[in-house]
Amino acid sequence: MLPWFQNDAFPIYLAPMAGVTDMVFRSLCKELGADVVVTEFVSAEGIMQRDDRTRHYTDFDDAQRPLGVQLFGADGIRMGEAARKIIDWKQPDFIDINFGCPVNKVVSKNGGSSLLKDCPLLTSVARDVVKSVPIPVTAKMRIGWDAQTINAVTVAKLLEDTGIQAITVHGRTRAQGYSGLADWDVIAQVADAVKIPVIGNGDICSGADVEVRRAQTNVRGVMIGRAAMANPWVFQEAKHYLKTGKHAEPATIEQRFALMRRHCEMAIPRSTRGGEFEVIRSMRSRLMSYTRSIPAGKYLRGRFTHIGSLMELDDILADYYVHRESHMARQENGDHEEASLSEIADD
Ligand SMILES: Cc1cc2nc3c(=O)[nH]c(=O)nc-3n(C[C@H](O)[C@H](O)[C@H](O)COP(=O)(O)O)c2cc1C
Repeated sequence: MLPWFQNDAFPIYLAPMAGVTDMVFRSLCKELGADVVVTEFVSAEGIMQRDDRTRHYTDFDDAQRPLGVQLFGADGIRMGEAARKIIDWKQPDFIDINFGCPVNKVVSKNGGSSLLKDCPLLTSVARDVVKSVPIPVTAKMRIGWDAQTINAVTVAKLLEDTGIQAITVHGRTRAQGYSGLADWDVIAQVADAVKIPVIGNGDICSGADVEVRRAQTNVRGVMIGRAAMANPWVFQEAKHYLKTGKHAEPATIEQRFALMRRHCEMAIPRSTRGGEFEVIRSMRSRLMSYTRSIPAGKYLRGRFTHIGSLMELDDILADYYVHRESHMARQENGDHEEASLSEIADD
C-alpha cells in the first residue's frame, strides 16, 4: 500500500499538466496543501536521449515529496529503462504511466490514450515498467477512447494484475478532450472493481466537490488540475472543508497578487530559455489563469497579453484597484463575468 493512502488518508493530488506543473508550480501547490504531486508527462525517448529539457521537466526538491514522474510511451522495456535513469538521477517516490493523453503527437506514436484501444499492448507496457523499476508504479487513464468503447473497468483490472499500485481515472473519453462533464459513475465503477486505490479526477473545484465524491464513491483520493491553475488555494480549502464541513475564506486579492509575483520571481532563475522578458512572456497564460478567480479578471487578462517584466506586473496589479472601482459600479448594473474550467484549459 502506498504510504499516502495508509490510515484511511484521503490524499488530494495535484494533476500532472504539461506546461503547468513545473517545479515552481508544484512547490506552490505543495505549500498550499497538495498531498501528492506528479510531474507533467515526459517521453521515455526524451529521457533516453538525455535531453536536458526533459530532465528539467522531471526536476524536483524533497519538499515536494511524495512525487511521481509521469512517463508516456508505447514500449514498456524502453520506458522501464527511462524510469531507471530517472530513479538513478533523482529517486522519485513513484513512476506514473500516462494512458490518458489525448494529444495527436502522443497518440499517433501509440502513446497516452491510444493504448486504451489496445489492451494487450497497454498490459505489456504496464507489466514491463513494473518489472523494471524498484519503486511503485501507478497509472493515469481516461475512461475509454470514445463513448462507444468505455472500458475503464476492464483496463483497471488488467492494470491491477500487472502490479500497478494505484490508478487515477479522469472521467472523460479521449474523444471528449476536455469538453462535457467528467463521468463520475464510471469512476465509481472502477473504484468498486479493483482493490488498489483509485483516485478520481475531473471537474473538482472546491472542498464541497471533494466531499461529494468521497461520500458517493469508493475513490481513495482525488486529483485536481485546472481548478488549481486558477486557485491553488483549492487544496487547503478542500482540506478545511473535509475537516470542518465549512468553506474556508477564499484567498484575498492581495494574497493572489503576492502569489502571482512570487511565481514569476521563482520562475526567472530556473529558466533555461532566457532572461526575465522570456520568462514573463512565457508566463502570460499562467498569469491569466490566476485571474479566473478574481473579480474583474478580464481587465488583468487584457493587460497580461503584453506583459514582459516584473515591473510591468507591479504596475498592472496597482492599476487593477482603480479599475475595480469602475467594474464594481458596472456589476451593480448587472454586467457579470463568468469563468469556467474549459476556459482555463483553453488559455
Ligand atoms: C494544460 C493541461 C495539461 C495537461 N497535461 C497532462 C499531462 O501531462 N499528463 C496527464 O496525465 N494529464 C494531463 N492533463 C490532464 C489533467 O491531468 C487532468 O486529468 C484533467 O485536466 C482533468 O482534471 P481537472 O478537471 O481537475 O482539470 C492536462 C490538462 C491540462 C488542462
